[in-house]
Amino acid sequence: MRVYSSFKDIVKLVDKTDSIGLVPTMGSLHDGHLSIIKKALIKDDMVIVSIYVNPKQFNDPVDLKKYPRNLEDDLDKLKIFNKIIVYAPNDRDVYNGKEEVKRYNFGKITEIMEGRLRPGHFDGVATIVEKLLYMFKPNNAYFGEKDFQQLLLIKELARKIKLDVNIIGCETIRERDGLAMSSRNKFLNKSERKSASQIIKLLERAKKTYNTSSPKSIKSDILKHANSIDNLKIEYFEIIDVSEFFKDKKEIRAFIACKIGNTRLIDNIRI
Ligand code: PAJ
Repeated sequence: MRVYSSFKDIVKLVDKTDSIGLVPTMGSLHDGHLSIIKKALIKDDMVIVSIYVNPKQFNDPVDLKKYPRNLEDDLDKLKIFNKIIVYAPNDRDVYNGKEEVKRYNFGKITEIMEGRLRPGHFDGVATIVEKLLYMFKPNNAYFGEKDFQQLLLIKELARKIKLDVNIIGCETIRERDGLAMSSRNKFLNKSERKSASQIIKLLERAKKTYNTSSPKSIKSDILKHANSIDNLKIEYFEIIDVSEFFKDKKEIRAFIACKIGNTRLIDNIRI
């Protein structure tokens, strides 16, 4: 592992013949991130892991301020890997003093769920991901299905900007009780953590009833059940046919966002 804070130093290192993988992260690394990095290391000769809490994608300044940052711990987790370059920049190296968020028009993908509830969030995500793709020109860039809507948006971004890059989706890694790993899980106290373990149960309940009930009645059943879970407040529950956005992707997914205490969590599964 080698660590750099300037992208220019990394670009010099990258051999044109290497296959480059890019794994963008905001740090506070857990096994979900590590599984993506391991997948990239199998496919690519060199893997660039970016660790950068991108202020442009936070629509809530309090959320940005309290987002966990542990660069030393992160590097400790990565030091066992060869062939990894860590890009841990400051704001200046990324945005070069220019503060604008790019405005995109991705249509319906960004108008529902996270796009509806977090105005400007996806413009901020696309701005940083586009920058990283132009900086490093990777052959492959890897993103988790945990943030499935983000993954769809980035596929659309890559298509729009016509960069020659494969956007590769990676499965969601979960705790033993099914809670999707997230940097935000560390904010949960004991009773909130217990409630958080019910999120996957709600998604699985939807999956079980999908063939026998209408999406509308599944939704009201899930909302009713969610109501009985301590500390949990649903923000949305949706069943989406992914082929609406990508014709070749024939799958139905259930999506959930909720607040447990002050912590906002999202998850989704294929049904
Ligand atoms: P972050 O939340 O750090 O996530 C980095 C990558 O790890 C994303 O592609 C995310 O989907 C994936 N990931 C998170 N939890 C996961 C889990 N439990 N299993 C598998 N993959 C998981 O997502 C972002 O950062 C940012 O928006 C970013 C793309 C870096 C742009 O700033």
